[in-house]
Amino acid sequence: MQPREFAAGQEFLVAAKRYWSTTLYRNLRARFDELAASDPSASTIAAEASPPPNLPELAAALEQDVAYRHFAWLERHLQKLKYSGPYGLVPYYEERRQALLQRLDVPPRHAGLSLDPALALPGYYTRVDIHQHPGGVWSDDLAGFVYQAGAQTTTPLLGESHATLHDRFTGLIAQRGDSRHILDLGCGFGKSTHPFANTFRAANIDAIDLSAACLRLAAADASGPPAARIHFRQMDAGRLGFAEASFDLVTSTMLLHEIPPPPLRQVLEESFRVLQPGGRAVHLDFYHMPDVFQRLLHYGHARRNNEPYMQPLAELDLPAMLRAIGFVDILIEPFREADDATDDAWRFPWTVISARKPAV
Ligand SMILES: C[S@@+](CC[C@H](N)C(=O)[O-])C[C@H]1O[C@@H](n2cnc3c(N)ncnc32)[C@H](O)[C@@H]1O
Repeated sequence: MQPREFAAGQEFLVAAKRYWSTTLYRNLRARFDELAASDPSASTIAAEASPPPNLPELAAALEQDVAYRHFAWLERHLQKLKYSGPYGLVPYYEERRQALLQRLDVPPRHAGLSLDPALALPGYYTRVDIHQHPGGVWSDDLAGFVYQAGAQTTTPLLGESHATLHDRFTGLIAQRGDSRHILDLGCGFGKSTHPFANTFRAANIDAIDLSAACLRLAAADASGPPAARIHFRQMDAGRLGFAEASFDLVTSTMLLHEIPPPPLRQVLEESFRVLQPGGRAVHLDFYHMPDVFQRLLHYGHARRNNEPYMQPLAELDLPAMLRAIGFVDILIEPFREADDATDDAWRFPWTVISARKPAV
C-alpha cells in the first residue's frame, strides 16, 4: 500500500469520526433528552447517585433508538477500519516489518530498557484485543508502532493537541509539589512518561508496562537529555519489583480502566507499598460521570472498543478501595483535556484520582 493511499484512507476515517463525535453526538443527545422528558422515571434521575438506579431502563430505551444504533454502528466500525480495513494500520505496518524491526533492534541510546521475557502476562490482559487492535498492544513485535499511530486519532477533536493532555496532567501534578523518584505505571510507548522527565527536571523515572513491543518502541524513540533519567522496564503493575518506599510519586495515565477490580486492588496496594510515607499516587483515567447520557455512551464505548473493565471501574467505589488500603487525602476531580474541550461533543470522562500515603 502506498503511503498516500494509506494517509487518505486514515484521513477519511478521522473525518468520519469527527462527524460522529459532533453532529451525530448532538443528534443523539437531543434524542436522549426527548426520551428522558417522556419517561417519568428518567426525569427524576438522581445525578448524585452514581450510577443512577434506573440506568438499565434508560440504556434499554436509548439503545432501541435508531439514532443510537447509527451512532453505535459507526463507532464500532470506524475503529475496526482504523486497524484492520484496506487502509488499516495493521496491514500498513506489516508491509514495513523488516525496516521497523531494525529500528527496534538498535540498543537504545538515551533511555534505559530492561525486558523480562519470562514475565507471565495476566489472562485479563491477553484475552482481549483491546481497542479492537488485533492481538492487542503486546502480542506482535510491531504492536507498539500500531498502537502509537492508533493513539493519534483516538480523540479526533483534539487533533494534534492530544499530546497536550499528557502535558496538562503532568503540569497539574507539578503545581502541587516536586517529585524526585517517579514511577509511571502502564507507560505504553512512553507518551505519558516523557512529560514527567521534561517537567520534573531533577527526577529519576521508572516507567513500566507489560508490553515488550511498546517498551522497545518507547526506548528507541527516547531522545534528548531528559530521557537519560528514564528507565523503561517490563513489569506487571500488580507485582512490582521495587523495594518498599522507593518513590515519592506513583502515577498512571489510562491504565486503571484496563484492569478488572480484583487485580486493580493489587495494583493500588503495590503502589502504596512502593511509595514513601507522604508520597503521592496520581492517576488520570475515566471515572467521574455525573451526566447520565455521558455514562451510557461511555459504557457503550467500552463494549464497542473492547474495553471490558471500563464499566467495572466506573461503578467501583474507588475512594473506598483507596481508603481501605491506607491512602488518605483522596481526591476525585474532573479534568479538562484541552482549553477548548466541550461537553457539546463526544469526550472521555477524564478524571484525576489522587491520594497520599500518610506521612509517619
Ligand atoms: C491505554 S494504554 C496507556 C499508555 C500510556 N500511559 C499513555 O498515556 O499513552 C495502557 C497501557 O497499560 C498497559 N498495562 C495494562 N495492564 C498492565 C499491568 N497490569 N501492568 C503494567 N502495564 C499494564 C498496557 O500494555 C498499555 O500499554
